[in-house]
Amino acid sequence: MKAASQRLFFALWPDEATRRQIDNVVHQLDPRQGRRVAPGNLHITLAFLGASSATQRECYCQAVESLAAESFALTLDCFGYWKKPRVAWLGCSAVPSSLQQLVADLNQALKTCGFAAEQRRYEPHVTLMRKADGIREPKNFRPLSWNVESFCLVESVSRPEGVQYRVLQEWFF
Ligand code: 2AM
Repeated sequence: MKAASQRLFFALWPDEATRRQIDNVVHQLDPRQGRRVAPGNLHITLAFLGASSATQRECYCQAVESLAAESFALTLDCFGYWKKPRVAWLGCSAVPSSLQQLVADLNQALKTCGFAAEQRRYEPHVTLMRKADGIREPKNFRPLSWNVESFCLVESVSRPEGVQYRVLQEWFF
């Protein structure tokens, strides 16, 4: 029998006020042009771990305990659309050095668990719409400010009504 595994990732998880602001942008996108991300699923991925065993999960949680990070302000001032993966997203024109450092430290810490970091450049983004076509920036898009004070380990659960993300653990800076 195959051992149970969970699909995991580390993420920045917006506070309720920020989540509402991001969701306002989602709601400016025409639902006929793609599949809007549910408000409860909005996040920024830091490291995608994929299918993980209970032992791996334990290792990941242990590994990040020693991270020393500081809270930082994140300005989501870029609306973007990636044609190939067909996603509309929000990102930042200047990635704060604290965020770059957090991702670098996280990848380094996770190495001890056998995790191999992505080779491509890290592009922090909140996915707003999937299977999206012909998306343009909403007319009244305004930059949003997010005060990031923690990061989370999140599980991706497949349900008949679609994927749902569930926070398993949160670490405050
Ligand atoms: P995305 O929003 O740009 O699609 C959960 O799947 C989260 O992990 C999503 O935010 C997704 O990014 C991100 N992710 C990164 N690498 C992934 C991969 N190889 N497969 C699935 N999701 C990935």
